[in-house]
Amino acid sequence: MQTVTARAHTNIALVKYWGKKNQELILPYTNSLSLTLDVFYTDTSVQFDPLLETDQFLLNGENVTGKSLIKVQRFMDLIRSEANIAMPARIESTNHVPTAAGLASSASAFAALAAAGSRAAGLDLSLRDLSRLARRGSGSATRSIYGGFVEWERGDSDATSYAVPIQEQVDWDIQMIAILLNRHEKKVSSRSEMANDVATSPYYPAWIENAQTEVDTIKQAIAARDLNQVGQIAEQSAMRMHALTMSAVPPFTYFEPSTLQAIAKVQELRAQGLSCYYTMDAGPNVKVICSARETPQILAGLSTIFPKEQLTVAKPGPGIQYLPPQQRSDL
Ligand code: PMV
Repeated sequence: MQTVTARAHTNIALVKYWGKKNQELILPYTNSLSLTLDVFYTDTSVQFDPLLETDQFLLNGENVTGKSLIKVQRFMDLIRSEANIAMPARIESTNHVPTAAGLASSASAFAALAAAGSRAAGLDLSLRDLSRLARRGSGSATRSIYGGFVEWERGDSDATSYAVPIQEQVDWDIQMIAILLNRHEKKVSSRSEMANDVATSPYYPAWIENAQTEVDTIKQAIAARDLNQVGQIAEQSAMRMHALTMSAVPPFTYFEPSTLQAIAKVQELRAQGLSCYYTMDAGPNVKVICSARETPQILAGLSTIFPKEQLTVAKPGPGIQYLPPQQRSDL
């Protein structure tokens, strides 16, 4: 059967998704909204092969086994059952994202696998159905099907929970600087921590109650191309999400000392008149929301405490793409 290669870019949530009301289908309690980025992406090739005994998964050239392989096999089972085939597949991924360092590699990974896997199985899914399929791998992957600003509508069933593009062509000056503070695999997965926060944080009901206002307000700010308003809501949503981990039983934080240092630096630069705002996901790394125009000054400020190699500038990126095999970046 044919080999299909897809590229998906990662996304960073500005209004976070944190908590599932259905673990099996990955249905979230709240809507969320993200920006897809250009420099972090995953290329994945899939080929179904009747001669294989089981699915094979190579990530960055290395054979994957154990829990990660099982997660991918379960995802491939969804595709096989939809396409009505039984064959195992050969899957090869190259991650242009520091894996599991809080830079949402699972978002681009499962979006690329949904696209390449479904097409290799002979399915011709709409973008909406691709988004629904990607959701079954990882919640944040739901949004990586589209470029620019994207909302994940929580829905209340498999059929109604998918992403919608809000502004695919971002024609105004907004971008992010990713501060890589820790490259290592995170110790506590977003999946287990969010489940524990839903179950034990007394603040979880308030999180649900506030989420829709944040999504509605940020959509107005995006339509008005208002960087300061977008940044303020993003900071608020990130800190509220991290407050859920801190208020859970047992209490926990993804923050490291350097996370707080980065936050303080962003606040300092803002006090000097620069429009910059921070957000953090399920890891210690900080992403700074800012304009391209002010990026040189913000980079100069950040590089007084972080080496330049830890700072990556990312612009709004595109949605899912299919690549001819020779265009794979690692070949
Ligand atoms: O990638 P997931 O589905 O395990 O969830 C991660 C959630 C955050 O990245 C922290 C927030 C978000 O909305 O992407």
